[in-house]
Amino acid sequence: MDTDVRPEAPARVAIFDTSLRDGEQSPGCSMTAAQKLRFAHALAELGVDTIEAGFPASSDSDLNGCAAIARDVRGAGVATLARCNSGDIEACARALEHAERPRIHVFISTSPLHREHKLGMSRDDVLARAVAGVEQARRYVDDVEFSAEDALRTEPEFLAEICGAALAAGARTLNIPDTVGYTTPAEIRALFEYLRAHVKDAHKAIFSAHCHDDLGLAVANSLAAIEGGARQVECTVNGIGERAGNCAMEELVMALETRRAYFGATTGIHTERLVPTSRLLTRITGMGVQRNKAIVGANAFAHESGIHQHGMLKHRGTYEILRPEAVGWAKSQMIMGRHSGRAALADRLKELGFALDEAQLNQVFGRFKALTEKKREVFDADLEALALGIDGRT
Ligand code: KIV
Ligand code: ZN
Repeated sequence: MDTDVRPEAPARVAIFDTSLRDGEQSPGCSMTAAQKLRFAHALAELGVDTIEAGFPASSDSDLNGCAAIARDVRGAGVATLARCNSGDIEACARALEHAERPRIHVFISTSPLHREHKLGMSRDDVLARAVAGVEQARRYVDDVEFSAEDALRTEPEFLAEICGAALAAGARTLNIPDTVGYTTPAEIRALFEYLRAHVKDAHKAIFSAHCHDDLGLAVANSLAAIEGGARQVECTVNGIGERAGNCAMEELVMALETRRAYFGATTGIHTERLVPTSRLLTRITGMGVQRNKAIVGANAFAHESGIHQHGMLKHRGTYEILRPEAVGWAKSQMIMGRHSGRAALADRLKELGFALDEAQLNQVFGRFKALTEKKREVFDADLEALALGIDGRT
């Protein structure tokens, strides 16, 4: 259905899932070590490239939870987070000892606001601390990621300088977090283009986006970052994360899939696992998603209005841009309610095994409409009762 044409092969965007770190540290989402391990296995089955397992320096139980994931989970890389200090980095190294593909993710704030009010450090101090952190992490693992916290409110030339220094010190991935969800799509795309042009040896780095959703723009901003050259996106299942959350993985992945010719990018996610993984997270945390949430919400493939139902019965492309089966739903749903029409009613009755003539259908339709004045949703059992109760039916 995507009519744009890009002749070249799609770029591969790595999915770095931080549900167990950024997501887990948000209100209402805490998990036990056993739950984190269970969910980490589900993420590996989903096909994520890297699982950020936690922040080992925050507590012994987080360290042990990360270590269990590093020991047990195969198929995805395992990352743990550290501030640029030796205690944090040593805790990461301990947690990752048995990982198949370990990554240490070090971060430091770079924006003027954070430098002055949070760290009380000058630019030079921050730069020196970042380099020391990356170098220390490289003594333990080959795969080091550097994040410039609050990057989107950092002076671009300083951001380019610190990213270049982190790369020279041995970082492989340069992550550019929009820590407070402040940026816009055009702005973040331009920043990634700027960094790719101005970071020394930029061609050696994998640029990564990490967008928060304070203005509801995290997915749009992550997609724009990809257009600007990001080749890793940090995201979470159901968009959980600090405050309003992070970029929702299911939305990002399906935007790339559905508009593949437009974005020219793809991921390694097994998309049919998206809904089961979303539901697993809801069961574990008790935090559900809203009904109208894209991809994984209960209404994402549900149709109630007569015009839409009629269109769907003729061609599903009229009101659906992707197949529900592709993301793990059994099928689209026709919700029988006040806005539904005769076509959908006839179709559902047929599915339920009733062969009604025109007059009988008219009678059921009249009764169905009367019932919708009393009930918001009419279920199959209601329809059966209505159909069985009409004149002339044995
Ligand atoms: O939002 C943020 O800046 C972060 C970093 C620690 C990557 O979560
Ligand atoms: Zn974050």
